[in-house]
Amino acid sequence: MDLSREEQQTLDGEFGEGPQQAMELIVALGKVYGAENLVNITSAHLSGASYKTIGDGGLLYLENMVRKGGRVKVISTLNPIGMDRTKWAKMHISEPFAKKQARILELYNAMGVKTTCSCIPYVDTNIPKLNDHVAWAESSALSFVNSYIGARTNREGGPGALAAAILGKTANYGLHQKRNRRPTVIIDTDIGNSVFEYSLLGHVVGSMIGNGIPYYRGITPGIEEVKAMAASMASSGAIALFHVENVTPEYRDFDISDIDTICIGKKDLKAAYEDLSNTDNVQLIALGCPHLTEKEMHEIASLLKGKKKKSDVEVWFCTSDAIKTKCSDDVKIMEEFGHVLADTCVVVSPIEGVFSKTGTNSCKARSYLSTLCSQKVMCRDIVDLLKIIQ
Ligand code: F3S
Repeated sequence: MDLSREEQQTLDGEFGEGPQQAMELIVALGKVYGAENLVNITSAHLSGASYKTIGDGGLLYLENMVRKGGRVKVISTLNPIGMDRTKWAKMHISEPFAKKQARILELYNAMGVKTTCSCIPYVDTNIPKLNDHVAWAESSALSFVNSYIGARTNREGGPGALAAAILGKTANYGLHQKRNRRPTVIIDTDIGNSVFEYSLLGHVVGSMIGNGIPYYRGITPGIEEVKAMAASMASSGAIALFHVENVTPEYRDFDISDIDTICIGKKDLKAAYEDLSNTDNVQLIALGCPHLTEKEMHEIASLLKGKKKKSDVEVWFCTSDAIKTKCSDDVKIMEEFGHVLADTCVVVSPIEGVFSKTGTNSCKARSYLSTLCSQKVMCRDIVDLLKIIQ
């Protein structure tokens, strides 16, 4: 791999142990994937934030990185953690868990990471630009910035994104190179316009094509729809980039005349819908995977306004602290029905052992609630889920 003098010095440890360890990881990844050099990045988004998912091993890794002088060089935001910082007891979180989680936050803060703890930092705190090279973890968020913004990132893991943030560089391979961003399949589709239908569409396409690059025709998703389909394509498959005709910034940049076409319609979505639920009652309804935007907070509040809660099913609305603060009027209405939680989500919170049946409107949450949280799941549109509690 072709390293500049400064990059080689970093690898040799001349700038300290933390940057050296980061460089060793990035160079190793670059060699595996055939990168010829490194590329400067403008931002990073880090996963590996919840004590539930990283455990004591991850905590020790972060302690060591801080001790070795690891500090981020570019704007770096953090994914949701395992609890709301102030309402954790209401989430049935134990004190030992809360203490470990708080320590993880201290360590990220010590490295200069913005601990905003949202999986949609691209709406406010961390907004890349077209053609920016970035190093993002969190499969839904990285797919969003690759696709809707046209920034360039590979599907980073937590340690790789942190190492890139410390260096301000990553290995130049994969989706950093324009030639690798070419669509691999055309998806002609005709679906309705709800966010839930976009989540189902992403689920169907991800299951069908695995890790290709779809090029959609026939849909005009906005931010909320793109975030839903990005999340579900990245969980049922491993899709990190997609193009949408007349919507995403790179759709015109490739010749698609020789690419196969798949048609997906309402009957495919209906089949997925029927397959996704394995319980007809729930103890918890969790909305906000990915985190709720301001628009979604307004929509939920307007669905609930003037109604009374008539069920003891617990409800969690998950968003960022900044959006929660901006939507204080909506929060008042929503809190009549459940907890509006900041910085966390149902998947990375330790809900197993507390709940066993959960409702969600997200196909991504549906996948992980089964595999990471031992839940039976009801996967339905938000309107149907909210009817359960009214
Ligand atoms: Fe975000 Fe948690 Fe879903 S991190 S994408 S709300 S699983």
